[in-house]
Amino acid sequence: MAARALRAFALQFLAASAFALVMRGGDNDEEKIGQVNQYGVTKYSKRQIRAVRNVQHDNWWPDGTRELRAGEDLEGATDLTENISWGWHHPNGVWNTIPVGGPMIDGNMNVYLAADDAIRKFSPIGDLLWSYAPRGQIAATPALLSSVASTLRGVEPPEFKPGSAEEEDALEAEEELRPEWASRVGTKVQRLETQVKVGDRLKVRPGMGYHADGVEYFKAGDKGKVTNITRENGEERAIITWPRTGYESVAGIVTLSKRFLLLKRRGTMLPAMMVASTTNGYVFAIEPETGEELWATKVSERTAGVKGATNGYMGVIVAAGERCENHLCYRFRNQTNKMIPANNVIHGLDAADGSSIWSFTPRSPVWNFVPFFTMHHHTAVFFFSDIEAGCYCVEVHTGKLVWSQQGTLGTYTQAAGVYATGNRHFYTLGHRAYDYGDVCNPAGPPGILPGCEAGPRTPGYVKAFDSRNGNPIWETDVPFPPANGVVGALRFQKMHSRLIVTLGYSCAYNSPTEVWVIDPFGARRMQFKGPTMWSNDCPGEIEAADYRRATGGRDKCEPSSWTKPAIDSTGDLYLGNQVGTIQRWSSPDDTPHAVRVVSTLDTGMGFQEAAIAFAPGMMAVATCSSLIVFQTYTANGSFGQENWALNESSVKNLY
Ligand SMILES: *[C@@H]1O[C@H](CO)[C@@H](O)[C@H](O)[C@H]1NC(C)=O
Ligand SMILES: *[C@@H]1O[C@H](CO)[C@@H](O)[C@H](O)[C@H]1NC(C)=O
Ligand SMILES: *[C@@H]1O[C@H](CO)[C@@H](O)[C@H](O)[C@H]1NC(C)=O
Repeated sequence: MAARALRAFALQFLAASAFALVMRGGDNDEEKIGQVNQYGVTKYSKRQIRAVRNVQHDNWWPDGTRELRAGEDLEGATDLTENISWGWHHPNGVWNTIPVGGPMIDGNMNVYLAADDAIRKFSPIGDLLWSYAPRGQIAATPALLSSVASTLRGVEPPEFKPGSAEEEDALEAEEELRPEWASRVGTKVQRLETQVKVGDRLKVRPGMGYHADGVEYFKAGDKGKVTNITRENGEERAIITWPRTGYESVAGIVTLSKRFLLLKRRGTMLPAMMVASTTNGYVFAIEPETGEELWATKVSERTAGVKGATNGYMGVIVAAGERCENHLCYRFRNQTNKMIPANNVIHGLDAADGSSIWSFTPRSPVWNFVPFFTMHHHTAVFFFSDIEAGCYCVEVHTGKLVWSQQGTLGTYTQAAGVYATGNRHFYTLGHRAYDYGDVCNPAGPPGILPGCEAGPRTPGYVKAFDSRNGNPIWETDVPFPPANGVVGALRFQKMHSRLIVTLGYSCAYNSPTEVWVIDPFGARRMQFKGPTMWSNDCPGEIEAADYRRATGGRDKCEPSSWTKPAIDSTGDLYLGNQVGTIQRWSSPDDTPHAVRVVSTLDTGMGFQEAAIAFAPGMMAVATCSSLIVFQTYTANGSFGQENWALNESSVKNLY
């Protein structure tokens, strides 16, 4: 019901925006700059971010585990105060909702943000496109899945003999070739081209056979395959081969729908989707284009939130569930009763309909559950770590354990593990056992002994494992609890691959923070000091608490001490710190000696974990209250990709 109401709201918004577009033009534009509109969006710049369509991977930034790939050209903002393009916070006030996880950016550069009240989709220039109210508090960061990533089992559909019974079986019902509206607007060629792809199968409509010079090319009911799409003089044509007659024919793309229907394979391609979970135990998928729900499954009674991520790979969605209520999630297992939020079970669901495929119970519960997917001897697997920094490799399609390594008994790390695709290491970020000599007070304060729990000066470690067999490779001690890690190439490390680990206990008085740069062999190459926290509450938390309680939400955001580090394609490092500042670290002469903060933005708010996302010409950051979108450089088509500026008609077409 709520979803429907929001949909109605989105439609009203549509009407309002169409009106606004009519009203716009000339000087009116200027009035809007710097003013919050009724959707909570503020546009700070007259220069609009230009959408660049992604033709290689479907989404620019599908989730927080996205790594920059070699040769990608995604730059961060040069000047964090000057380059802000637009921002969003809850329309009723800055404190009225808390984002969950970082922004996601789809292949057309629309930005998605999940928050306690709704998931929202914005166009690249900051127009609200839809909002979806989930069935409960979002429990973990959602992820965007392209149709390829959600394709069941990831298996290429088998080639059957044309016209055979097997082929009949595998081909699903015919589909109309294009939405009617596509031909009426300026974007028609683009739209149709995205619909018909090389490899698609077409069926001839009744009465639409074709003869020429006494030769039959195809007749009604024949099935052909699109073998090429050519562009000549601005016109696009599909080359179709007809197995029954052995002929090829050429047809203009815009006229295809008159003669042919599109055939879809059964059960192989799934639609693009966004997946997420809620604290009342649902895992759900929504359609990114419209915000409509595809399915929702109740997997557990309660799910602990809000940390970690829900994600999917090759037709399987994995999500943590079953809030831990037994001895395993007490802080010091054998003695105290301090419950820590954690989940006991990982669920594997079929991306097609949300039905359960398997469940897996790790040795210790998970809190910051972030799955990293890869192929391992032709089998899809994922890696993750638990609250004790134990780590696991599990098969995506069966939930079978491939290998695991134990963490440190009785400890509780907030940091998720990190997978490095380059050297196939999996890194865990854990705490050393809380022994403090041999005396500590397991019941915590008050007392004269230190508590048996982590604090700002609890030492931690980074351990590297070979992700292929789980063998330990090295471990390095760090002085404070680790917060987040990422692998990437820094310009002041000659673009060599490094593991960047941030350290710091979150939101506590006298909590120092540091950043360590570690090479693939475990040696520390650099260390920078970050700000020290001088309060027991992260910035904004006290001011916001009453508003948050009044609106029925969580009263605290509880950010981690640092965001997951983000490295752009130039090798600069972007980091948000719990004191409410985001920084760009660089080195003017590219040497390690001159590394410094070259730009800063004070947000007065902590940040979400994987807060920073990149797309061409865009960098988006999620804080504990807002979304901030920076314009980076002007995308100039050097990707060899198609560019277009979003105009009013293409915005409308998204519905
Ligand atoms: C498709 O057509 C183009 C233009 O005629 C040609 O350059 C290209 O090689 C063709 N591709 C295939 C796979 O036949
Ligand atoms: C509880 O476990 C800790 C760590 O294993 C140990 O040092 C301590 O003596 C145990 N306490 C009790 C009462 O068993
Ligand atoms: C970013 O800010 C710098 C410094 O003010 C400016 O020179 C540059 O043009 C800005 N870039 C964009 C894309 O707005």
